[in-house]
Amino acid sequence: NGSVRINMANVDSPLQIFVRAKKKINDIFVEIDDYVKDAVTFMHAVAGEKEIATAQDVANVEAYISKVQAIREVLKRDHMKVAFFGRTSNGKSTVINAMLHDKILPSGIGHTTNCFLQVEGSDTDDAFLRTEGSEEKRNVQSVSQLGHALCASRLQECALVHVYWPRELCALLRDDVVLVDSPGVDVTPNLDEWIDKYCLDADVFVLVANAESTLMVTEKNFFHKVSTKISQPNIFILNNRWDASASEPEYLDQVRTQHAERCVDFLSRELRVCTPKEAEERIFFISAKEALLTRMREREKPVTSPTLADGHQVRYFEFVDFERKFEECISQSAVRTKFAQHSRRGKNIAADVMAVLDLIYNTATERKSAMVEKQRILHEQLTSIEDQLTAVTKQMKEKINRMVESVEHKVSLTLSQE
Ligand code: GTP
Ligand code: MG
Repeated sequence: NGSVRINMANVDSPLQIFVRAKKKINDIFVEIDDYVKDAVTFMHAVAGEKEIATAQDVANVEAYISKVQAIREVLKRDHMKVAFFGRTSNGKSTVINAMLHDKILPSGIGHTTNCFLQVEGSDTDDAFLRTEGSEEKRNVQSVSQLGHALCASRLQECALVHVYWPRELCALLRDDVVLVDSPGVDVTPNLDEWIDKYCLDADVFVLVANAESTLMVTEKNFFHKVSTKISQPNIFILNNRWDASASEPEYLDQVRTQHAERCVDFLSRELRVCTPKEAEERIFFISAKEALLTRMREREKPVTSPTLADGHQVRYFEFVDFERKFEECISQSAVRTKFAQHSRRGKNIAADVMAVLDLIYNTATERKSAMVEKQRILHEQLTSIEDQLTAVTKQMKEKINRMVESVEHKVSLTLSQE
């Protein structure tokens, strides 16, 4: 389809922390799977007539096969999830498109995104869409028809549309990052439902704010709600549309300081999700529109672009810096939350199976020594019988000898008398 494949040699991306950990834990669970299956085969061999393993033991270990299978399924599908929130038109969809290096999601002035759009990697070369709850795969040209508020096919705003995009076309998707776009937080009263449905398993939240104005109460309220349901959420704040500052260079520093102070205050003092020092590392001044344009040009996609405003390179570097810090944060957080629990369960399963096998081994050893003891006693008994026999035989022989002698004596006596 003529798309330019981007350079995939991204081995030192922080996302690799997650990718490698995922590979490792999947490999370990293959081993646990083999171990449990071997144990079951062995137990069947020593159960039944031999009665070394009880039927209950066998059933207990057998039950682990399906448990391990279920964990393996979850692990295969595990991914890192980032959700974007902010007021209408702040540029959420544009930020996601810039991160994906392509115009995938609908964006534009006014209220654009009208439902949740989840972009994830597709294992095939095709891009397609699927609405939650339906199996129908739609052509991706309809992203705008499905997700755009001005288009005919109206979806409920809390509905979810999956957008599958070829992994090969984007490093983030290839490394198992899933990106969730949302309608503006100011256009809905259903924030609680949103959080329950789409936020509880997110590893990172990105608040896309508008640097032309300031953080708004609706945006703050949304994150207050989030932080009551999730302990210590990872939140980044993007002050987007920072290209607007190019037209007022004399106030640039002051405005930046004002925004930065408010954002630090919001994260550290209001939400208490991090220290002021950590908060400084979570706040960026960017222009998603410029970043997307720059990347479209790099990939030689046809763009009708005006010349970029002064300072666009600095803003672009800050965007790249955001991506790096975001990648570090999301991969570490996802490894902790997704794999720690599974590796604990894996360890417990292996230990349980081991304990059962130990028990079987002990029973078998006890049986063996009991048998050896039985043999020893039998041997002793035999020996004593043998001894008795020898003694009896000896006595008999002597008796017979004496009888013969006495008979001979009597015979010779009789003979001499005659
Ligand atoms: P909704 O989906 O309606 O909630 O909006 P959104 O937050 O997804 O915003 P969207 O990405 O659709 O952007 C809205 C408009 O702002 C579009 O016309 C974008 O081109 C424009 N825009 C986005 N980012 C920037 C930016 O950094 N600078 C400027 N100047 N315009 C931007
Ligand atoms: Mg949008």
